[in-house]
Amino acid sequence: MPCSASKKYWHKPGSKRTSLVANPNYRIKEFLIEDHSAVYDLWKRTQGIFITTSDTEASIGSYLERNPGISQIARDRQGKIVGAILGGHDGARGYIRHLAVADRCRGVGLGSQLVETVLSRLSAVGIIKCTIFVEQDNPDGKEFWIKNGWHRRAELVSYSKFLSKDITAQH
Ligand SMILES: CC(C)(COP(=O)(O)OP(=O)(O)OC[C@H]1O[C@@H](n2cnc3c(N)ncnc32)[C@H](O)[C@@H]1OP(=O)(O)O)[C@@H](O)C(=O)NCCC(=O)NCCS
Repeated sequence: MPCSASKKYWHKPGSKRTSLVANPNYRIKEFLIEDHSAVYDLWKRTQGIFITTSDTEASIGSYLERNPGISQIARDRQGKIVGAILGGHDGARGYIRHLAVADRCRGVGLGSQLVETVLSRLSAVGIIKCTIFVEQDNPDGKEFWIKNGWHRRAELVSYSKFLSKDITAQH
């Protein structure tokens, strides 16, 4: 059953997306480690999310411990997890990863609500800027961030390095 509401987006009338009104069909809650299994299942079936070893229960547990209260999940009225987002910071800048909304719940502002919640949590701990890395071949993902007021850093290219030779590119 789709969990969309009659109203497409839940903004306060005349307001910008920074003041989204909570959609009553969902509850947004802190991502706790006991949510990992359901969130992992959601990520696995979401096109545009690439699972690596940094998504195991141990890795996510460590991430949540380092960034308490920032990552979020969304539950529908039946209590099923239908959205998730990881948010954290390095003391100066914030980062978002693995935003996913279940297919049947898209287009009603849930993705935007999850992002806004993470941004308010980051803001509350003094972070003033946040970054998201998007796969080149995720045009829908790119469109989402643009529509949510994020600007593309076309001047940047990302580099990374594994710290052990045993780890392969799949990680
Ligand atoms: C991206 C995603 C999280 C959006 O979730 P959502 O709940 O449908 O998003 P919202 O309803 O809050 O949409 C917010 C805005 O983004 C736009 N948008 C959302 N998905 C879009 C898409 N696939 N293509 C174009 N625009 C999109 C909406 O139209 C809306 O803009 P509008 O108010 O001008 O109409 C969801 O489609 C998803 O899980 N995608 C797969 C995983 C992914 O790509 N995650 C991002 C990784 S970087």
